[in-house]
Amino acid sequence: MKAGLPMGFLRHFRAPRNVGRVEDADWEWERKSPWCQDTVRFSLRLKHGRLEALRFHAYGCGVAIAAASAATEWAKGKRPKAVLEARVAVLERLLGPLPERKRRCVAFVWEALVSGLKEREERA
Ligand code: FES
Repeated sequence: MKAGLPMGFLRHFRAPRNVGRVEDADWEWERKSPWCQDTVRFSLRLKHGRLEALRFHAYGCGVAIAAASAATEWAKGKRPKAVLEARVAVLERLLGPLPERKRRCVAFVWEALVSGLKEREERA
């Protein structure tokens, strides 16, 4: 493991949370990065209007995996609207400072999460 990487990133990279697929999911979606073609899949289940379960599979770099882990951990239990009102800065803060070239991986995961949630909200 490289030295100097932020603890937030390392915490999620070493032991990603919420990996997998939600059983009896209410909504599932997949997004592909336009830059590198890496892919992230999310699935969720709602209960009383909140994200009772939110899981992911990431086929990408370590930052994408850590970002999806941090994003799902942060978003679980929240109302989709609260997630949609947040900004990628939430995720950047959770992971800690990353090299500039890896920030687009964080942005990709964030955009993947919110675009799927938004699509679901529009169809609900
Ligand atoms: Fe593709 Fe990070 S290099 S998401």
